[in-house]
Amino acid sequence: MPAAPISIPQPTSPKAVTVSLSPTSSTLHERFRKNSIGSHPSVRMPKVLHPIENEDLKLLLLENISQDAVKAFRAQGFHVDHSTKAMSEDELVEKIGSYHAIGIRSKTKITERVIKSASKLLVIGCFCIGTNQVDLITAAKAGIPVFNSPFSNSRSVAELVISEIVALSRQYFERGWEMRNAIWNKQSKGCWEVRGKTLGIVGYGHIGSQLSVLAEAFGMRVLFYDVVNIMPLGSARQVESLETLLSEADFVTLHVPELPETTNMISAEQLAQMKSGSYLINNARGRVVDIPALIDALRSKHLAGAAIDVYPAEPSSNGAPFDNSLNKWASALQSLPNVILTPHIGGSTEEAQTMIGEEVSAALSRYLNYGATVGAVNFPEVDLRAITAEQGGHVRICHVHNNIPGVLRQVNEVLSPYNVEKQYSDSKGDTAYLMADIADVSPHDINKLRELISRTNANILTRLLA
Ligand SMILES: NC(=O)c1ccc[n+]([C@@H]2O[C@H](COP(=O)([O-])OP(=O)(O)OC[C@H]3O[C@@H](n4cnc5c(N)ncnc54)[C@H](O)[C@@H]3O)[C@@H](O)[C@H]2O)c1
Repeated sequence: MPAAPISIPQPTSPKAVTVSLSPTSSTLHERFRKNSIGSHPSVRMPKVLHPIENEDLKLLLLENISQDAVKAFRAQGFHVDHSTKAMSEDELVEKIGSYHAIGIRSKTKITERVIKSASKLLVIGCFCIGTNQVDLITAAKAGIPVFNSPFSNSRSVAELVISEIVALSRQYFERGWEMRNAIWNKQSKGCWEVRGKTLGIVGYGHIGSQLSVLAEAFGMRVLFYDVVNIMPLGSARQVESLETLLSEADFVTLHVPELPETTNMISAEQLAQMKSGSYLINNARGRVVDIPALIDALRSKHLAGAAIDVYPAEPSSNGAPFDNSLNKWASALQSLPNVILTPHIGGSTEEAQTMIGEEVSAALSRYLNYGATVGAVNFPEVDLRAITAEQGGHVRICHVHNNIPGVLRQVNEVLSPYNVEKQYSDSKGDTAYLMADIADVSPHDINKLRELISRTNANILTRLLA
């Protein structure tokens, strides 16, 4: 017999979705509560909050953001307009006024002019790693948090590095290139197994630590250097100095952010400290390695090879030339043997794209439905524990305001007749954000509360969720 559809209220969505399960008159949610109350009276289900707005929330998703994200937003009751293309500034200025949220990748620029035209915009989602296509400061001043997905591609980068270690060690880029030029050149001289060799990881963050686990599975000994003391995974060992790492590693791989102190952190002096016949891999940022110095180290055969995925200057679109007009040493690097050059593909996999879609959609939903800003790049990061299903008359206040003295006194004066169950506020630059859950607010008082808080002199945006 086919299963009857039943409705399951989703903790993270304001509307119920319909799924097919066993035939029963009660929902899973109800059955869970029935079973758990009694045996576990402390279990509290989160209440699904709804923005108290007069109209449905409208989302604009550009640059072919995944259909999974579109479906997830529609299931929550949002109206979604989806386009495969980016929009120009003029198009955005014309259209953005009717949207509450926008999702973009790297081609759409959210400028100050766009933000000034976005009278209803609550949140921006960058479905990518970087956020420099958005005027972050203007967005924060307008009370608009911006979310991205900085770590969804860590595994993809770690796997690329593993492949590069093997490729360099076996020189198979050279051999493959020769075969395409009709040259048979079978040799074992200078080709090694990676088992038992030492990998030196510089920067043991999201990527470095993933890589550590994969490299050990290959039988490599792993050392790492990081400015922070970090618990090693598996049998990896943190070393005290970059010099120690460079002098012991057969392969050195870089996974640090681009900072003033990491610019040219691998230059002639550090290359000289590396073991003779070792290899350098850079999938971090282009300016971390002094490439002319690397070319010298490769030409002198002090290094046996290198893999480079990132460059100080990179073409802005596919098909554009990568030559000396962009980086004056390009042809010198291209002419060297056992050097793998890739066009910044470290994080470019289908899996990473899927994870980016999931992570950014979830962040947008969390902000629109619950007010949480954890993970925002331009905004104070604030969240509160959930209002439970039993707390029917509770209201959540989300108040974005200018970071000036006296705001909390004014807001708390408005809240003084009520029981403030919990509240939390934080600031970043000129913008501050307060979240507060208020008990037993009558439907009649809700609009009055919003109006009074919106009228305080530092108000940027006040939303109520109930
Ligand atoms: N090639 C690609 O496609 C690609 C994809 C994703 C990330 N990246 C780049 O990879 C790098 C690492 O990314 P992540 O996600 O692992 O970052 P992360 O922030 O998780 O880790 C960086 C680590 O570097 C350490 N660090 C900072 N300064 C240091 C220094 N001076 N010396 C030693 N360690 C230092 C930090 O303490 C941290 O542990 C970043 O530059 C990122 O932009 C490249």
